[in-house]
Amino acid sequence: MKIISSVDELRDQLRGQLRTVFVPTMGNLHDGHLSLMRLARQHGDPIVASIFVNRLQFGPNEDFDTYPRTLEADAAKLEKEGVYVLFAPTEKDLYPEPQEFRVRPPDDIGNTLEGHFRPGFFTGVTTVVMKLFSCVQPRAAVFGKKDYQQLMIIRNMARQFAIPTDIVAAETWRADDGLALSSRNMYLSPLERQEAPVLYQQLNLLAATLRQGGTLTPAAIEQAESKAMSTLRERGWLPDYVSVRKQSDLQAASAADLAAKAPLVVLAAAKLGNTRLIDNLEI
Ligand code: PAJ
Repeated sequence: MKIISSVDELRDQLRGQLRTVFVPTMGNLHDGHLSLMRLARQHGDPIVASIFVNRLQFGPNEDFDTYPRTLEADAAKLEKEGVYVLFAPTEKDLYPEPQEFRVRPPDDIGNTLEGHFRPGFFTGVTTVVMKLFSCVQPRAAVFGKKDYQQLMIIRNMARQFAIPTDIVAAETWRADDGLALSSRNMYLSPLERQEAPVLYQQLNLLAATLRQGGTLTPAAIEQAESKAMSTLRERGWLPDYVSVRKQSDLQAASAADLAAKAPLVVLAAAKLGNTRLIDNLEI
């Protein structure tokens, strides 16, 4: 595996490759990330992974400085997965001049849910993904459903800009107790780690309630959302949202959408101590 930090060198290395599959990450790799590499293998060759902690997507009070950086261990894991190139640019490599052009997602999908609680987050994500795509020029790129809204926004971006890259979705990789793997799980204390699977349990409970309810109404959904939020609060969590949305556009479902059986997904974000966790479940 080649570890490359310069954009020019990356271009040289990939020249002529027509079936490159790309897996962008911020590093501190866990089994969830590695499952993306395995899925990538089925969608082309060679596999290019990137590790770049992207300052543009962190808010002023977020964990950019403390985000875990574990390049050596990450490289060893990627090598084992048969990754051909690890693109690990420094900030100077990727942003040699201030990144003044931005890709801004539309408000309806970019400023709801995560976008509401993390202003500017998705603009940071789409800007770096656009830039990484333009460096790697992949035929396909793999993103996890763990970050459901991110996946949906990148899909829409690729479609609207006619980017010649298929966006491939990977299922969420979970620990045995159901907790979705995340680099941020390492911030959890042992006690918090024991409590953390409750978030996914609440999503499952909510989904089970909605599945057996016959024809759903917006009021029934609202009640189920409130119940999950209050259970989390009672257990010491600080939920930002537990929200049932349409899978197609991540907007709330109207009575007509529900009558037409629009596929739904429940998304949640909640703080446990100082750690903010997100998860989701298709209903
Ligand atoms: P990062 O959080 O490192 O995640 C990299 C990729 O791994 C994303 O597509 C994410 O959805 C996926 N992933 C994370 N945990 C997962 C899990 N438990 N199961 C399956 N997939 C999982 O997401 C980012 O980085 C950044 O926003 C990035 C897209 C790299 C842009 O900076």
